[in-house]
Amino acid sequence: MRLRTLRLLNFRNHEDTSLDLGAGINALIGKNGQGKTNILEAVSYFSLGKSFFAAVDAQVVQYGCEFFEIEATLNDDAGRRSEAHIAFSASGGQKAVRINGTPLDRISAIVGEYPAVLLSPDHGGIIGSGPAERRKFLDIVLCQTSGRYLADLQEYRKVLRQRNRLLLDGRLHGSISPGALEPWTQGLVQYGSRIIEKRLQCVEAMRDGFAGSYAEIAGIADPVALEYVTLRGVKSGHGIPAIASVMEEQLGTHRQLELRRGTTLVGPHRDDLAFMLRSRNAQEFASQGEHKTLLIALKLAEHRYMCETRNETPILLLDDVFAELDSERASRVLGRLGETGQAVLTTTDPGVVASVPWNTHHRRFLIEGGTSTAQNP
Ligand SMILES: Nc1ncnc2c1ncn2[C@@H]1O[C@H](COP(=O)(O)OP(=O)(O)O)[C@@H](O)[C@H]1O
Ligand SMILES: [Mg+2]
Repeated sequence: MRLRTLRLLNFRNHEDTSLDLGAGINALIGKNGQGKTNILEAVSYFSLGKSFFAAVDAQVVQYGCEFFEIEATLNDDAGRRSEAHIAFSASGGQKAVRINGTPLDRISAIVGEYPAVLLSPDHGGIIGSGPAERRKFLDIVLCQTSGRYLADLQEYRKVLRQRNRLLLDGRLHGSISPGALEPWTQGLVQYGSRIIEKRLQCVEAMRDGFAGSYAEIAGIADPVALEYVTLRGVKSGHGIPAIASVMEEQLGTHRQLELRRGTTLVGPHRDDLAFMLRSRNAQEFASQGEHKTLLIALKLAEHRYMCETRNETPILLLDDVFAELDSERASRVLGRLGETGQAVLTTTDPGVVASVPWNTHHRRFLIEGGTSTAQNP
């Protein structure tokens, strides 16, 4: 996938900004607070239909304005061109998406059309904070690679909400009829087992790429591994029926506890992704620099996984990644970018990208006060 042009109207501090991007590295260079990250955020709307940065649409509209609009022209790997347009009106709270002029009836239908992988300083939470961030990471990867996964996840969340409501009611009012929980338990197992199977497959597929990228960027062969932590007894390679039967059994043994706690205790909403470094859990002891490197390795593995499963190269978005890396690691990451298709990166320090041979393939832009100026090679 390649982003050719991008236009932002009333989008955060960009009143009307257009960029013509190259097929290789695109560096957005500028001081703090000038609007670099906002441009990556705009790109994220095309891959997820919403912001990668968990912002609500209304926050993104430029202060004092009524709407934002973003438009992009893109080429897929086969060279097919498409035009995408997203508009949001603050008063109506309405978002509309058009692809090649045709409106989409659901916003989520854009998910996966224009795959992108984002690495931002906020992602420190993937390794550093709770399991919810790590599940979200897997969900974002899988939603962009499988429409079925997105649908399963939406159904699972609905069923989980209903089931939890019932369990909580039961806890508050003393009891629930034995049959009332059953249909929700069945739904939980049906969608939950599919989600677990996909996540296991995904982690398994990313494992080698993760270890390889870590060694390459760190410049040392420290053993690292990714592990999906799920129901006891379930492992990668188990099919959906096997996972479903373990899940059913564990729901059975947890039933009384669930009734007492008033919430669902078994299922993929309780799972985790573990980062192992030198056979220990990196969340607990890795240094900051090691965290950063693990995170970059994870994102490069995600990029490769998406290339392989989608047969389409995602756009790589790197927000301020170099700021926290030593110069050797930074230059190794930059070296890798030559092989990963199109990348859009932000930096406050032009020095870190000084070695890039700027031409029509690799381009740089000066971002200042919500404007962008292409720099000549
Ligand atoms: N809705 C908005 N309307 C106008 N300006 C905004 C809005 N949201 C954020 N900003 C401004 O955008 C700027 C931050 O842009 P950002 O892209 O994060 O900067 P950086 O270049 O450091 O990445 C800040 O000056 C902030 O005030
Ligand atoms: Mg920024």
